[in-house]
Amino acid sequence: MKLAGEYLTFDDTVIVPGLSPVEPHEVDITGMATKGIHISIPILSSPMDTVTEDRMAIALARLGAVGVIHRNLSREEQASMVKRVKEAVPSPWMEVPRASIREDPGILPMRMAESGSRALLLLDGPRLAGILLDPSADPGVWHGKAVWLWRLMTTIKPMPSLDSEGRLLVGAAVSPYDIERAKALEKAGADFLVTDVAHLHNENALGMLSRLVKSVSIEVVAGNLGTREGVLDTLTKAEGVAGLRMGISSGSICSTGEVAGAAVPTLTAVLNARSALEELGLADKIPVIADGGIRNPGDAAKAIIAGASSVMLGRFLAGTLEAPGPVINVGGKRYKPYRGMASRGAMEKRHAADRYSRPSKALEEGVEGLVEFTGSVVTRLGEMALGLQAALGYAGAPNIRRAWSASLARVTPQGRSEVKPHDVIF
Ligand code: IMP
Repeated sequence: MKLAGEYLTFDDTVIVPGLSPVEPHEVDITGMATKGIHISIPILSSPMDTVTEDRMAIALARLGAVGVIHRNLSREEQASMVKRVKEAVPSPWMEVPRASIREDPGILPMRMAESGSRALLLLDGPRLAGILLDPSADPGVWHGKAVWLWRLMTTIKPMPSLDSEGRLLVGAAVSPYDIERAKALEKAGADFLVTDVAHLHNENALGMLSRLVKSVSIEVVAGNLGTREGVLDTLTKAEGVAGLRMGISSGSICSTGEVAGAAVPTLTAVLNARSALEELGLADKIPVIADGGIRNPGDAAKAIIAGASSVMLGRFLAGTLEAPGPVINVGGKRYKPYRGMASRGAMEKRHAADRYSRPSKALEEGVEGLVEFTGSVVTRLGEMALGLQAALGYAGAPNIRRAWSASLARVTPQGRSEVKPHDVIF
């Protein structure tokens, strides 16, 4: 028997405050989704059928993040979703000079109709002077959206995530065994592929990954992996991998740790990837994506300090309007469905939707449930992005690369409860 050591989780650690050369609102959170794709908000959405379809991917790319379309669909349906993202208007808003409105107030409804958008950003020279909303839009959703849009635009000033032809960027999930799907997704315009396997560190899967990388000309992110050895084997057996998706069993809907007893918590998985990349001299070449269990900006910042270039979010985005699935009323509160891709319902759908899918295990490793409805994804993304700036500000890091030199400290369980709100009745 070999005891591999101790695995740290987000809750075991805190960020060590450091001397910051900038104010929090000046922190640059530009991250990487792949070797070649930089995004101004370092967030990818999980390829899950209750998180990312075309609507989510469009909203995220317009705001500076990027979506990864799930694969619980036929190849054709997944490829059509990719196409719809590539054909979408790249901006959810139009920029209109304030002076032009004074001259011609009729320009506003005309511009909204033209752009298909429901918000106009009013510019005073290069400065953002206001946001105008389409009056027919649901005020409950749009009020919050406008406030966060304002905060994002004035603080982070995100650039939409665009390809070289000015179209929105989008990723798509594939199994490494499904080269036909990978080719169809590339043809539809996907900018990168993300392998979607619970345990990529498997000889067959790595052999297929190597074939997959050679079969397409777009970048391929490999995952999921947890250990240093997993990363070393992946990078040696599948040359050309353009990113690492790290984390095993930390997902909020994941039951792997319980039913199969295996896990590498996301924070540890990122540290392991970093150690492998440093060993290979590739630390700043191949981005690490922290995937699973990220609940708030503090967790995201810890993952980045550990060595991630971006984070992947499932539950955090699943309650939004842009996630697939209906809003469900239970006892006067609003919810949306959220389920693991290895839950019984999701696996049944996958095998029904895709007769080529390759069931490798019969074990259910995910659960199905509900998450609170949280309104538009603009609000959620705003919370995460602005919180991340603040957290990196504490760490003394003006950008993600510099955050890799910041520190985390281990806290005791007592310390953990002390650094949360306590002894107050809410
Ligand atoms: P969350 O952000 O904590 O909800 O975690 C989302 C991540 O959980 C995804 O990006 C996947 O890596 C992982 N995941 C998705 N479905 C399952 C499942 O059924 N079992 C285990 N992990 C899953």
